[in-house]
Amino acid sequence: MANTLEGERPADYLTRLAASDLGRSYKSLIVEELGIRPGATVLDLGCGPGADLAALAEAVGSTGRVLGIDNDASAVAEAVQAVSGLPQVEVEEGDVHHLELSERSVDRVHTDRVLQHVADPNAVVAEAARVLRPRGIGGFAEPDWDTLVVDYPDPAIPIAYRQFITDRVVRNSRIGRQVPALCEGNGLVPNRVIPITAVFRDVTEADRIFGFQRVTHRAVAAEYLTVKQGESWIHHLRTARLFASVTLFVTFAERKPGDPA
Ligand SMILES: C[S@@+](CC[C@H](N)C(=O)[O-])C[C@H]1O[C@@H](n2cnc3c(N)ncnc32)[C@H](O)[C@@H]1O
Repeated sequence: MANTLEGERPADYLTRLAASDLGRSYKSLIVEELGIRPGATVLDLGCGPGADLAALAEAVGSTGRVLGIDNDASAVAEAVQAVSGLPQVEVEEGDVHHLELSERSVDRVHTDRVLQHVADPNAVVAEAARVLRPRGIGGFAEPDWDTLVVDYPDPAIPIAYRQFITDRVVRNSRIGRQVPALCEGNGLVPNRVIPITAVFRDVTEADRIFGFQRVTHRAVAAEYLTVKQGESWIHHLRTARLFASVTLFVTFAERKPGDPA
């Protein structure tokens, strides 16, 4: 992944991101916009260490059910710990391409920055559509890495850096813009797309999210940047006033009422 610090486990980075001002605000917006009612069944695809499970549990209340699924065993173990004391939440290790759930069995599907990593995003959206009940809603939050902008005296350098990320680092780097069409292709109606642009002025925080330094070393090794360009870029990011941003698109898509399974 592009976005973990050297030596840091992904779950640590995700827990910190979720706890940041940025993480808290966009995550609560998604849960709110999903319009989850007490008693509902909600599926969190790629739940990671469980950043969203408590908020989803609160939304469904004691009569509802939340199921988190992730294929990373250590993230699942952390998520299980995070939700101990919330009997309405279950966490399972599994692959979001093949859900062991019946069709039309859940009211909401929540997924945050997962499709960017999977082998087949269309298959995952198809699974989400299959398990949603008629009028059920999926909320898919995915970045579009072409929206990464960084202020730098020579604009060719951030463009080359971004190109390295979209070509080599993130598997489905333009997934943010593709989710509405994937939903339509799988019988979901994407009613709303909310863009969320994260702006970073603090280099330490930006480095945690983007892994600037580590990714720059890789971009140099892959000859997207020269050694000199890489050094100047890192020096600039460390010493100048940072402006960097990236946009996440959150697509809310509804399963048509009475849609045949
Ligand atoms: C960027 S993390 C997001 C985690 C969580 N949604 C959050 O917001 O903190 C992406 C997660 O997707 C999971 N993931 C990637 N591919 C998967 C797959 N095929 N099946 C299940 N989980 C997957 C990873 O293990 C990781 O926990």
